[in-house]
Amino acid sequence: MSKPASGHTARIDQFFAGLGARGDQWSHLVELTQRWADGTSSRTDVEAALAEMTPTEEFHAYPGLQLMGAVRDQVAANDARAASTLVRRIGRALLTRSFRQHAGDWDVHEDAESVASDVLPPSLARSEAHRPYFEVLVVTGAPSVRWPGLAAEWRRLRRPQDGFIYEPVLVGSFEDAFCAAILNPDLAAVVIHEGFPFRSRRDAPVLRSLAEAAGKPEPAAQKTLQLAQTLKRVRPELDLYLLSNGRVEELAGSPASMALRRVFYAVEELLELHLAILEGVQERFETPFFNNLKKYAQRPIGTFHALPIARGKSVFKSDWIRDMGEFYGPTLFLAESSATTGGLDSLLEPTGNIKKAQEMAARAFGADHVFFVTNGTSTSNKMAVQALLAPGDIVIVDRNCHKSHHYGMVLSGAQPLYVEAFPMTEYSMYGAVPLKSIKQALLNLKSEGRLHRAKMVDLTNCTFDGHIYHTRRVMEECLAIKPDLIFLWDEAWFGFARFSPFLRPRTAMGAAHDIERWLADPASLAQYEKQQAELGNKPSDSVLLNTRLIPDPRKVKLRVYQTNSTHKSMSALRQGSMLLVKDVEFHTVEAQFHEAVFTHASTSPNQQLIASLDVARRQMELEGYGLVHNAIEVALAIRQAVAEHPLIAKYFRILGAEAMVPAEYRQTGFVDYLDPKSNWAVVRHSLQEDEFCLDPTRMTLVCGTAGYDGTQFKGLLANRYNVQLNKTSRNSVLLQSNINNTRSDVAHLVRVLVEISSELDQRLAQGGRNVRLAFDARVKSLMHDVPDLPNFSHFHAAFRKDAGKRTNEGDIRSGFYSAYDAAGCEYIRLADPEIDRRLKNGPELVSANFVIPYPPGFPIMVPGQVISQETIDFMRKLDVKEIHGYDAAEGLKLVRADALAKRVGSVPKRAA
Ligand SMILES: Cc1ncc(COP(=O)(O)O)c(C=O)c1O
Repeated sequence: MSKPASGHTARIDQFFAGLGARGDQWSHLVELTQRWADGTSSRTDVEAALAEMTPTEEFHAYPGLQLMGAVRDQVAANDARAASTLVRRIGRALLTRSFRQHAGDWDVHEDAESVASDVLPPSLARSEAHRPYFEVLVVTGAPSVRWPGLAAEWRRLRRPQDGFIYEPVLVGSFEDAFCAAILNPDLAAVVIHEGFPFRSRRDAPVLRSLAEAAGKPEPAAQKTLQLAQTLKRVRPELDLYLLSNGRVEELAGSPASMALRRVFYAVEELLELHLAILEGVQERFETPFFNNLKKYAQRPIGTFHALPIARGKSVFKSDWIRDMGEFYGPTLFLAESSATTGGLDSLLEPTGNIKKAQEMAARAFGADHVFFVTNGTSTSNKMAVQALLAPGDIVIVDRNCHKSHHYGMVLSGAQPLYVEAFPMTEYSMYGAVPLKSIKQALLNLKSEGRLHRAKMVDLTNCTFDGHIYHTRRVMEECLAIKPDLIFLWDEAWFGFARFSPFLRPRTAMGAAHDIERWLADPASLAQYEKQQAELGNKPSDSVLLNTRLIPDPRKVKLRVYQTNSTHKSMSALRQGSMLLVKDVEFHTVEAQFHEAVFTHASTSPNQQLIASLDVARRQMELEGYGLVHNAIEVALAIRQAVAEHPLIAKYFRILGAEAMVPAEYRQTGFVDYLDPKSNWAVVRHSLQEDEFCLDPTRMTLVCGTAGYDGTQFKGLLANRYNVQLNKTSRNSVLLQSNINNTRSDVAHLVRVLVEISSELDQRLAQGGRNVRLAFDARVKSLMHDVPDLPNFSHFHAAFRKDAGKRTNEGDIRSGFYSAYDAAGCEYIRLADPEIDRRLKNGPELVSANFVIPYPPGFPIMVPGQVISQETIDFMRKLDVKEIHGYDAAEGLKLVRADALAKRVGSVPKRAA
């Protein structure tokens, strides 16, 4: 890990490079020791590299104190050959992860036959079957000379029947414990012995900067519990155990001890603790549905139900479709069933292992309840909207949200009150909805006496392009205006964020937990009352809009829902999705949720999908932290490579926060993760304060500057280089890193971009003036002649129902069904001058359909919406082929003026 840019505060990429950089450090040391052995480098270089690595290496079990000590001894003895051999072996074991299973990797001598089980290997015997490996952090006040002995004691607890194998990692202070939790993704549990100092024994600036991220705990008596709480905040999935020398009963009874899995009296049997650690990991490892499905697949079962493919006999006996069987293998067919008995369960009314699997997912994702959904977040959203809203309810909703929300309103009869995201016209995309617009919508409803009808705020976090809301602030400020609002956060892309301490506070569930803590804090009421006194009796809208509003903790009913496409960011099969619930009023809507499940879930849900949701949860609870950290690290590496490679940077760039988030929403002045002035403290401040942040894993790569529109560039990457990507805009493509990416993927992408850039460079250099002029014109067209993005206009009077003067909600359901009346509809082609005549002289053009171009993928027309000049201009400039709801040959489907007139006559007038 390199030195921080200034003072004690590390740059953010150094922070995220912590895990991956370790591999680089070892490669560097391998190279240095080899060169020293060859006589081309000096011992001093090796010593310096070792010294730099030492503080962070202490946070990992492997190579550990003994092997590191051996390397140091060999260096001190000037034995370059031995040092080089040992360092190479360690480097290889780390790279291949073989040390987790192979006892020999822990020995100083490669050919050592017998290894004392209390000193070295994690494996009990060389021949044993694979057992998952993890590490346990032991925080102790004992002097470091005693650590090898303590570690040996832990190892002696191992038994052949243990389901897992673990190695202890000893640290001696609060700061070191925190840094180890950040830097060691293999940790699964922490054992805290009472009585350790606060400060690290190392004065390493990088460690200090990491420790700063823990906040500034007082080095006081409550340090032990404070450490537990801090670790739980950073890595909630870790099991924490406390070993106390006295006051166990008192400790176990304190509210702060809720962070602990168990409290032990220190002098008691260590074996109990060992068993508790294994049991804790087993609880996360458990996959109730998947386990039963595996058992089910092994049983001889005669099927007389309607799923011929189950057991695979019709497949493997066939001359014609046997290749399908060979492709998928027999297990898939053995694990197929339409039964809900025999060890399986019913997704529609789970009472057995699906229920249990959902409960475990709730624990993992920080929710009270979870519904597994096997038809994507498209269905999760419709379920949530249907269950929570009734006809006439008003929903404040981002007009650019996924179409499932809009269709959900059609189904439920709720009235969408659209709020607009800020436009990013130059890249033909939208950002996210400013909080002021949401508050304004609520205040408008209030001023018209209809706030009671507002049931829900429905937003996308993060957006397709990576805009992350300040979820806590949005909820708190909205609750200050209406304390029982329901929040539906569509985190289709953001489910993984739960497992990053960096992103978690800005997720729906992360923020809900923070708000819950705030509500329970007696000081919160005083904060609220103080603000009320300052605001006075009747604060104006402008004061309310410009104040960070504090809700009344006595009135708040915290009702938070999140949907996530587990298949988009975790190891679930396509369409695997979850609906998370954290709602104090859930008991009042639980029956409605069951109806929503019955409405939307197939009565033949796919077993493999359900199993994959169960397994995805297991993975994230046990290794999600490291995987997500890696995804962020990969993204930062790509961002850096594109910015720094002279040839790539000539034609391409990845948009940083300063380009994706207008300055007014970056209140802290944050520029970007890779800005030279950004450090961890700056990023932390931005994450705590800024209205919008950028998810680093979502990378908008501008390709218009290389003369490609998004669709063309996507095609080029896919067809020529086998690189698949996410979405496109007029002049950009969206790259996304995820838990599956490796640094080889980064290398491949960089190579591809270099190749494309150098071909382009050559073409321009050799093509003469005309080629250059054509290229410049193309770039100008893509980057500057961009269509304005149309805002939502308004619903036609026929579909406004009882909307007030200041709000624009509408009866989208009636608008939708107007399209079913063929005689009441007409079609006009976009190019027809009739469109322009009608725009000028009326009658108004009213859409009968959703019209959803891909990209950008949001409805530029919804049923019942009056079509504006801007919308027509946008449609006419649109150069995408896929426009759902629009048939170019027939034209726009409109509600006829006479049908509208009839409806207006039937719309009840609002009382004046
Ligand atoms: C914001 C958002 N929500 C929901 C969905 C639908 O998710 P799924 O594909 O899991 O049905 C998408 C799909 O792209 C999306 O972008």
